[in-house]
Amino acid sequence: MNVTVTGAGGQIGYALLFRIASGDLLGPTTPVNLTLLEIPSGRAAAEGTALELQDCAFPLLRTVTVTEDPVRAFDGVNIALLVGSKPRAVGMERVALLESNGRIFGPAGGALNAGAAPDVRVLVVGNPVNTNTLVASAFAPDIPADRFTAMTRLDHNRGVAQLAVRLQLHVAEIDGLTIWGNHSASQYPDVFHATAGGRPVSELVGREWLADEFIPRVANRGYEIIQARGASSVASAASAVVDHVYDWVNGTGERWTSAGIVSDGSYGVPAGLVSSFPVRSVDGRWEIVPDLAINAFSRARIDASVAELLDERDAIRALGLLPAGR
Ligand code: NAI
Repeated sequence: MNVTVTGAGGQIGYALLFRIASGDLLGPTTPVNLTLLEIPSGRAAAEGTALELQDCAFPLLRTVTVTEDPVRAFDGVNIALLVGSKPRAVGMERVALLESNGRIFGPAGGALNAGAAPDVRVLVVGNPVNTNTLVASAFAPDIPADRFTAMTRLDHNRGVAQLAVRLQLHVAEIDGLTIWGNHSASQYPDVFHATAGGRPVSELVGREWLADEFIPRVANRGYEIIQARGASSVASAASAVVDHVYDWVNGTGERWTSAGIVSDGSYGVPAGLVSSFPVRSVDGRWEIVPDLAINAFSRARIDASVAELLDERDAIRALGLLPAGR
């Protein structure tokens, strides 16, 4: 399998590449060719990481290529992990962040369209992740839209972990959590279909705890990590990448997880927006879990997050960063 990681010289790249090469991403029998895409300022770090990858003598790692050319990086790619992005500088307006990233993810979509393998799967990690995914997909008209996904698995994992702590259970006993909407503070972690040790979570915790503690804790966990560590989430983000791709390729069975995917209009999310949904991976494709009842508490929060996604799409459109008609 050809796996390309963009922003490979960055923090998440460093935590992620060794897990891919060791077999965590695609399983212990799948050999991997790794391509590391960087910009000039990150190239030396990527080259250094490539040397360390060599020093691990991973049995599954066939080749490592470092490049600054997106067309070369995505030629024949099966799994594209789009991590590299322009970070938000102090005082930077949100629209400026959307613009600088739109200028990265449009060309990335074009390069994927030009040369990716027919079975390519794309996971966008770089923020603002939902809208970056929308832009990349819009510039790849020959790649089915359902191959483009945005990472909300870290939020999902955070929610599962918080429930496990609160209910004093193991994470494996928590099932049916959903992250809806945008990977931002507006995201909505929904427990109303979740079970803990087989019992409905909504019978075990009160709405006050959900509204005042659980939801803000999960949505703002990234900030909490920055406060504690003095740096953003890195190893947990890389671990969520591994979870997302592993499940996508190998299937989830009956359990579900959360992923940002292109909406088909389900649950009142306008078609074409990239929003987080409850999803199962079946035969190598993400499917939205159908027919969940959405109560008023959930509806208001999903709608608020989706409104933010619409604002982001409008901003990108107004900047001329989507192809005509998108
Ligand atoms: P970082 O700043 O350490 O690394 C980013 C790397 O991307 C840098 O080496 C930079 O040179 C490179 N880069 C920038 N523009 C590029 C381009 N056009 N092509 C290729 N490479 C490019 O950042 P870190 O910590 O690795 O985070 C990466 C992204 O992941 C950030 O946008 C961050 O906000 C996001 N993130 C997303 C999460 C999620 O749950 N979706 C969780 C944690 C982080």
